[in-house]
Formats: sequence, structure tokens, C-alpha cells
Amino acid sequence: MRRLWVLFVLALLLPQAGATSFHVPEKSVIYQVMVDRFYDGNTSNNGPFYDPDHSNYRMYWGGDLEGLIEKLDYIKSLGITEVWVSPINDNINTLAYGSAPYHGYWPRDFKRIEEHFGTWETFRKLVEEAEKRGMCIIVDYVPNHSNPASAGEFGKLYDNGTLITDYLHDAEKAVINPYTGSREYIYHHNGGISEWFGFQLKYANLYDLADFNQHNPFVDSYLKEGAELFVKAGACGFRIDAVKHMDLGWLETFYLDLYSHSSVPLFIYGEYYNRDPSRTDDLYFFYQYSNVTSLLSIPIRDEIANTFAYGGSFESLARDLEEYYSTFVYPNKAVNFLDSHDLVRFLNMNSNKNRFHMALALTMTLPGIPVIYYGDESYLVSKDGKGDPYNRPMMVFNNTTEAARIIRTLAELRKQNDALAYGDFKTVHAEYSLWVFRRDFGNHSIIVVVNKGDDKNLSLSLDWEDGTYTDVINGINMTVKDGNAIFYAPKDSVLVFHREGVQKKPLIGSITPYSAQPGNLVALAGVSFGKTGKVIVGGKEAQVVNWSDDLVIFRVPEVETSSPWIDVYIKSNYGESNHVKLRHYRKDVIPVLVAIKGDNLQGYLWIRGNTPELAEPRPLIKSSTGYYFTVVPLPKGVPFEVEILDGLPWERLTSTGKVYHGVANWTAVLEPGPLPRPTTTTTSATTAPDTTSSSSSPSSSSGSSTTTTGQKGGICGPSSVLLIALLPLLKRRG
Ligand code: NOJ
Ligand code: CA
Repeated sequence: MRRLWVLFVLALLLPQAGATSFHVPEKSVIYQVMVDRFYDGNTSNNGPFYDPDHSNYRMYWGGDLEGLIEKLDYIKSLGITEVWVSPINDNINTLAYGSAPYHGYWPRDFKRIEEHFGTWETFRKLVEEAEKRGMCIIVDYVPNHSNPASAGEFGKLYDNGTLITDYLHDAEKAVINPYTGSREYIYHHNGGISEWFGFQLKYANLYDLADFNQHNPFVDSYLKEGAELFVKAGACGFRIDAVKHMDLGWLETFYLDLYSHSSVPLFIYGEYYNRDPSRTDDLYFFYQYSNVTSLLSIPIRDEIANTFAYGGSFESLARDLEEYYSTFVYPNKAVNFLDSHDLVRFLNMNSNKNRFHMALALTMTLPGIPVIYYGDESYLVSKDGKGDPYNRPMMVFNNTTEAARIIRTLAELRKQNDALAYGDFKTVHAEYSLWVFRRDFGNHSIIVVVNKGDDKNLSLSLDWEDGTYTDVINGINMTVKDGNAIFYAPKDSVLVFHREGVQKKPLIGSITPYSAQPGNLVALAGVSFGKTGKVIVGGKEAQVVNWSDDLVIFRVPEVETSSPWIDVYIKSNYGESNHVKLRHYRKDVIPVLVAIKGDNLQGYLWIRGNTPELAEPRPLIKSSTGYYFTVVPLPKGVPFEVEILDGLPWERLTSTGKVYHGVANWTAVLEPGPLPRPTTTTTSATTAPDTTSSSSSPSSSSGSSTTTTGQKGGICGPSSVLLIALLPLLKRRG
């Protein structure tokens, strides 16, 4: 009996079960809040380093979670469904470089909440109050680093109040990893980033921020446990800071860990800071081969802002955006924004409010999920036109502006019209000062007209039913007759026309998350799913957790496949839906450091292998110790082999003909040659196949040019390595 009581009390003390409702990301509008600069709901937590005058931009200004709770009704009044809060983990208690960590990006304890902002209890209350209003909370989490290594608290790190290390003491224990060449313990000790590519990008300090060694087992669990606390306390998603500076393979295991701890499908997006959409940046292969979560649309923001603030042409904007979106498997999961805490606000670039409204409207109608930076609705500006920290002024609350009306109107339209959320994206007409594009999903469509030239009377061919359609922003009418549309577009305006027809067959528009492993919860959103039905995943029926006409949640079943992407669809009384793709990982994957001795190897190298996790090429980093390496999520103890490819990311990759093999472990140093094959002479279909014949040996492909297609979803080329992987499956299936 006493034990039962203890369990009962423990259940009350532990973090709550997690978010109770799921929000379809594509149907959402996100509001980005810098907690310290939003609203002071509790003056007793303002100090130390508090500036009541709000004149020193590097001090705390009093905003907190209680203030945010008080203002949830205001945020809701804008039509917002998700609130992204700046990092709220406990930050350093000193100044560093003359600044307090009011922004939250200098954490020291990933299991506690910063005392200037609140407690776990306040966070849970925030979640609860948001849920009451039909909203949910996205947490900014910072697993790349703790705090400055050579200022402030010198990288001090705590585990729920217990001091673990600091940067100087950690250095005493650090040793050189023989495979990566990194000097490391809890942190990396490889200086600051000076070369913005390869090894340094991930293994050196970003602006002196003590860089975590995620491959240390303590760090690995610590960072995962810290984020799990937010999941258990009800966060519905995460914005992950600085993903460019961590191994993708570790991040994949991090995301999977969070999915496995959540009671609803989670939405995670990463910050990969790159303001240039150029194909030569490593961002390109991050998209092309590593579509594992959403990313903030940083590379296209400047071009959008410049086109509206200055003289950019819509013709080139249209072309560049189409190309950008084409690199994603799910372009509607990109996270679009106009202003942010890292950039000069648009109104400082051009104070013309019409142009600002146009840029905002575009951000909310392009493929992707729009983010509204706090105060965009009330025309907040950066002090003296400067960026960080002057783009973080104290919030001014005003939801009666024209900007607020546009945000609210387009947020409502997103709920009503599925084309904004799930539709494809096609330019109908583009010239220097005029752009018309359309979005279509099933029988829902949107036409967006953007005019920064003179007033115009326009006519275009349009396949909508005859009738009059009213633009939601200015109330301008468009008449359609016999496939021809006529309307008037005033100077400096955006017009948004919509049409909603009936969709009879089930149509899936969204899958969240779109990379997962057996047991994870995944949501399919769309239209006409009916009252009940089945979800088929990789040929297997999945367990359905929730079914409604526009949302189905299922658990990923165990599927045997060597492909990274598996097919998902719905069968209901309304018929069979379109097929969508889910990136698939096997159970219990760990971040495996895969190392290959560099003798006889040179060039820009990649590996591709015989497991679903390795079926798309992954770039290798060259180590100073003579190895090539990367981190791959693989199930522990599984033997695997890889083929080495060569080529620049934006070119076709060529097989070097070299094959290596090993067994997945925390570190796997691969041996040359394919996996040893069984020496059995039997030809029985129930035993492992004899794959040693030269015709199917991967090494026999030497000199041939096995290539990757570079297509999105272009899973694996007809490489012999992969054929070998498939053979046992084919035989087993008879
Ligand atoms: C990116 C964040 O957006 C920025 O504000 C921060 O300073 C750096 N990451 C480091 O955490
Ligand atoms: Ca790093």
C-alpha cells in the first residue's frame, strides 16, 4: 500500500505527460517571441543585470513566461497557432563581453529553466494556457554549445544543479580522438571556427561558444534528457539552434529520441545559418541528401526582403524560389520568415509600410510555414537600423494595425484553404514588377498577384469555374468567364484569390514528422479521409491512434526495407489516397562514428551503404590523423558495408570502386573490402545467399561510374552494394 502511495506522489512530481493535442505544422502560423523583450509578468525575477530603462540592449529587460501567459490572448487575436519561445534553459549568471544572456543562447543547465524567465511549473502553465486557446509552444533548444569558453562562466555546465565541468577543467581531460583528430572530452578543444567548412564547422567553437562533443556518452544522454523534459512538459516542437555546427548523424538520433518520448507527433525545425542559396554551399547537400527535418528558410529571406525593400526583380525571385523549394522532399515544411532576432528588421531597410505588408503577405502565401517575429504586427523597428542586439526592442502591443489585419486574414485563410498549407507552387507570370503564382491542392486553389509597379488592369487564363472571386486582402473582385480572369491590381499590392471545391477521394497533404522509426507517432493531414480506414506503411498496416476526416495519427510499424524512404497511404471508405514518403530508420539506432583509413583515398568523398540509413550518400570529413569520417545513425551491433563515392556536392557522384565494411558500434573503424560472405555451398533459398560471385560483388564495380541521381527522393542508384542488401529480402519473401 505504501508503495502505491509513493508511486502516486512520484507521478505527481514528475513532468506531465506532454502536449495533448497535435497541431498540423502546415496549417499553423508561428509567432516568434524573445521572452526577455516581450512582457514582464513578474517583477520579482527581474534582477540581476536588469535595465528598467530599456536603454542598454545587452541587459535583461524583464520579460518572462508569466508575461507571455498574460499576452496569449493578444497572440491568439492575430490568428497564431504556435508560439516559438527563445531559449529558456538556465543561462550563465555573469556578464560575458559586457552582455547578459537575456537572449538565452548561453545555457549552463539544460535541465533547469532560467530564473529570470520562470520555473518548470510556469512553463507547464504556459503550455496549458496555450492549449486552452488552441495554441502550442515550440521551444528553442541549443544542443551545439553551452556558454562562452573564454568569458563569463567559461563554459560552466550543470546537470540539474550539479556542476559537471567548465571549459578550462575539461581541457585537462581532453585527448585527441585518433579518428577525427578532434581534441575533446565533454567539449571540443579545437579553437574557434575560422574555416567555415568541413571539420572546423562542426568541431570548433562558434564565436567562442563552448562546443559540445555530442559523441561523448554523457553529453549525448544529457542533451537528449534536457530536451525530453520539454517534451514531457508539453512542448509541441523545437527550433534547434545551429544545426550546421553538429554532426547530422547525431542530430538524427536526437530527433528520433524526442519522437520516441512524445505523446503527440512533434514538429522540429533547424537553424542552418546561411544567407546564400548558392548550390556550392554545403547547405545544398544538407537538403539534397539529408531531408530529415524542416529548416528555417534563411537562404531566401534576403532575396525576398531585397526585392520588396529595394529594386530586386520578381522574375529572378520567382525563378530562385522555385529552385530553392525544389531541393526539398517536403517544401511545405520549410519555415519562412521576414524578420528575426538575427537580422535588421525590414522596416529599417525600407520604411514604406505598403512594401512591408507585401513582403509579409508573400511570406504567408509561399510554400512553407510562416513565422511572424514579435512586433512585426505593430511595426517595431531595430534601433538605429542595426541588427543584433538592436533588432530586439521591447514589444509594443498593437493588434489593430493593417499588418495585424493582413496576418490575421492570411492565418484564417490557411485554415480554410488547403492549398496554402499543402499546395504545390507554380509561377503563372513573372516580370520585373509583377508576379502571379498559384498554389493547388486537390480542389482547393490560390492565386497570388504581387504588383510593385503601376496600377494595372490584368487578364489571365484561369481554369476556375465562371464567377466572381474576392481577394482577401483588399476586397478586389476577379471575374472569371470561359477560362479567362479579369481584375485590377493597384500599385504596391498583393492580391490573394481563393477557391474551395469538393474533394471526394482521400488526399494527404502533410506527414509529420517525415522521418521516424518503429513505434514513433506520425500524423497524416489532408482531406476526405472519411470516418475510418487503414494506414499502410511500407506495405504493412499501421496501428491507428486517431482518425478524423482531416487528420490521422498512426504508430510506425516495423518494416523490412533497405530503402531510406518508405511508402505511406490511406485506405478508407472514400478510396485510396495518394502515396507519401516517410524517411525510415530502424529501431535503437545509435550515433556511430564511422572512420575509414585514408590510405589510397583522396578527393571529396562520400559513403553509401547497404542499410536504409546509409542508402543516400553522406559526406565524409577529412581528419588531420589520416582518416575520413562521419557520424551515421545505425542499430548497435549490425554489420554493414559502404561504397566510397567521389564528387562535389552539386555534381554527379562517382563510385571509386572501393568498398569497406564494419560493425556498428559507438566507433566503427571500417576494413577494406565487402562484408565477409558465408562460405556455405548450399543454394537453398532459406540460407544467406552466396554473394561472392564477381558479377554481384561491389568491388567488381571498380572503374564503373555508379552515380547518384541527385533527384529528390532519388533513393539509391542501381549499385551492386544495394543489390546485395536486397537479395536476402527478396529470397525471404519467396
Ligand atoms: C543562432 C541564433 O539565432 C543566434 O541568435 C545565436 O546567437 C547563435 N545561434 C548561437 O546560439
Ligand atoms: Ca559543434
